[in-house]
Amino acid sequence: MPSSAPYQPLLLKILHAVSGILAIAAMITGFLVYNTFDGRFGKLPIPSVDSIIDVHGTFAVFFFVIFPVFALYSFHAGNKRLLQKDSFQKLTEINKPIWWVSLQRIANTLMLISGALAVLSGRMMKEEWLPTGQLNHTWYYLHLTAWVVIVCCLAIHILMSSKVGGLQLLISIFSGKIRPEDSPQKWSTRLRNWFSNSSVNFAGGINHSLHNNLPLTVAEIIVLVGIVAALILPLVISN
Ligand code: HEM
Ligand code: HEM
Repeated sequence: MPSSAPYQPLLLKILHAVSGILAIAAMITGFLVYNTFDGRFGKLPIPSVDSIIDVHGTFAVFFFVIFPVFALYSFHAGNKRLLQKDSFQKLTEINKPIWWVSLQRIANTLMLISGALAVLSGRMMKEEWLPTGQLNHTWYYLHLTAWVVIVCCLAIHILMSSKVGGLQLLISIFSGKIRPEDSPQKWSTRLRNWFSNSSVNFAGGINHSLHNNLPLTVAEIIVLVGIVAALILPLVISN
């Protein structure tokens, strides 16, 4: 591999692949749920599958398990690929390379925000609503909105990644090539170093990220609050 070829860390590739596959499976099965029980905004003439809600629920619940790990990884280890302090400012430099890179980083960040919206609204839904014709619940509309948002964001995410790095970048996120320093045998040492650095720097770290990249800190708070709400709200609110 030439040294200029884009390289993605192994942990990113694993987390991205697992959450990406589960998110895409949730999008497809979610659409099939809509197509089977709703169809008010358009319907495809494909056979309906009665157990599709269970299938969707299974992919969705696994996505909910992996998503917080992926989000935390991205906001910390992968923060260079997300929204930067000056990303919105750079949007004025239309068509320059930094414009596309800023759009790509914004799109990456939007994937995490739309994922959190899908997870929260999905957790607030009840399995029996759609089969019993209850199609007007606010959480259901929010969940449908989350689907539209996540589908649009995924399209922008892939388009921007290919614009910025071409096919090489797209392939790099799925590539099986691992650099020696990235090998899983080194993970325990790296994790120990990371913990010792972050415990020393915890308070300073928060301060640092607030000053250094406020927009990304705000995005992280939105995503984490969404995930915690998705865990707790269904237990305290009964629709
Ligand atoms: C048209 C699109 C969609 C429809 C009609 C739909 C429908 C549903 C329904 C009926 C439930 C309740 C099922 C249950 O409680 O077992 C649910 C739950 C859920 N959905 Fe969706 N969904 C859609 C898209 C998505 C997408 C794109 C995601 C994520 C990427 C997602 C993530 C979730 C999650 C995390 C749950 C909660 C699962 C649980 O904790 O049981 N959904 N969805
Ligand atoms: C076929 C589908 C997908 C392709 C081809 C793809 C491609 C990529 C590529 C090439 C990168 C690396 C960007 C860089 O190094 O600058 C990336 C990062 C990222 N992707 Fe995807 N992606 C896909 C699906 C998804 C899905 C479904 C999600 C959300 C659930 C997602 C969320 C992200 C995030 C948050 C990052 C940044 C990670 C970090 O900062 O560490 N992607 N993607």
